[in-house]
Amino acid sequence: MKKIQVNVADVYGTVSAEDIKKFEGRADDAIDKVNNGTGPGNDFLGWVNLPSSISTEMIGDINATANALKETCEVVVAVGIGGSYLGAKAVIEALSDSFASLKPRGQWPRVVFAGHNIGEDYLAELKDYLADKQFGIIVISKSGTTTEPAIAFRILKEMLEAKVGKAEAARRIIAITDAKKGALRQLATEEGYKTYVIEDNVGGRFSVLTPVGLLPIAVAGFDIAKLVKGACDMEEATRKPAEDNIAMKYAMTRNALYEAGKKIEILVNYNPKLHYFGEWWKQLYGESEGKEHKGIFPAAVDNSTDLHSMGQWIQDGERTIFETVLSVESPERETVIPTDEANLDGLNYIAGKRVDQVNKMAELGTRIAHTDGGVPNIQITIPALQEEYLGQLIYFFEKACGISGYILGVNPFNQPGVEDYKRNMFALLAKPGYEKETEAIKKRIG
Ligand code: PA5
Repeated sequence: MKKIQVNVADVYGTVSAEDIKKFEGRADDAIDKVNNGTGPGNDFLGWVNLPSSISTEMIGDINATANALKETCEVVVAVGIGGSYLGAKAVIEALSDSFASLKPRGQWPRVVFAGHNIGEDYLAELKDYLADKQFGIIVISKSGTTTEPAIAFRILKEMLEAKVGKAEAARRIIAITDAKKGALRQLATEEGYKTYVIEDNVGGRFSVLTPVGLLPIAVAGFDIAKLVKGACDMEEATRKPAEDNIAMKYAMTRNALYEAGKKIEILVNYNPKLHYFGEWWKQLYGESEGKEHKGIFPAAVDNSTDLHSMGQWIQDGERTIFETVLSVESPERETVIPTDEANLDGLNYIAGKRVDQVNKMAELGTRIAHTDGGVPNIQITIPALQEEYLGQLIYFFEKACGISGYILGVNPFNQPGVEDYKRNMFALLAKPGYEKETEAIKKRIG
């Protein structure tokens, strides 16, 4: 089985191999903290050995639940936000036909998402879409108390119960939450839903390889055993401190670039199926590193699309950025550019070439232009958009994130800043228990 590769040669115009090597001691220390739980946040390291500890029984159970939903549901709504949504969305988008939603459904239910926003139109339109369909719900919340998914779930649960009755609705609802705590756990117990547990020691943004990600991915018809196998291979490959440990290499390089003034990292893809992988990665790195007024700002672009919008800024704007390019070696399908005798569009010079050959030249040409323009480039090569490689990529980024956060000197596994907007929102909505905050915020806004 091939492995994803990391190439940092195109950062050497900005930082040298020696500059990166200087981080070796801190990276050794960081990987030790991740592997042995000796750093801050060490009660959230359940993801480190997760791939190798997922049992075949668990995979079988998740596949059986997915199969049961397949028997009755044309659509399954995955309700969740942040780490309880982005991993599944990223993998499903990467593996799906780009026009799947416009084509007749195959044997698997369509997976759609809700609870990741508070858009009233979004929910109304989702209800319209579901009105004449057999549907089920996977409701995912580690805390079991997050407002966005709770609102969506209340609305969809009411709709499903009105449609098929309470007993059948209970068979079509799966809850993934804490073993004991939270409103969702209590509700699931009282309603008799099938449940899966998110272990205390796995944070939301590190939970894609638990039932949080695996169940929606299995419902969409993809091979979760292969996804986990890829992650296992990467768990093994990034376990020990070594020169060829690609998680350490990436973590050290991005910290060297940060120290050299490159405060923004742009994750770049040349395959539109990777758009949501960028969204998942932004949460992983943003929530893990952006604290104590430190941390690289994670951004993402989809090329070549965004070369026609963000390209100018990246080439010529403030020199505070570096790029990490996700380069997919082989597409799954072949499309050749035809010859046209009239050649009115002037494209015969590339006739007979595969579209991907042109894409690769756009990628290479951009890499050269950007490095020439002072934008260092890290390249991550993925053999293909298949389950095994996505599993490798997920675990690679998780492991590198833990190492990188410790090198930076923060606790990569908490997210205290996420609570501030919630406190204000609850105060503004006069949530019971927030009386003092409500009074204070009312005075502020007049
Ligand atoms: O990474 C995290 O912990 C967060 O982004 C959570 O995933 C997100 O806030 C959703 O939380 P919960 O699963 O508790 O509803």
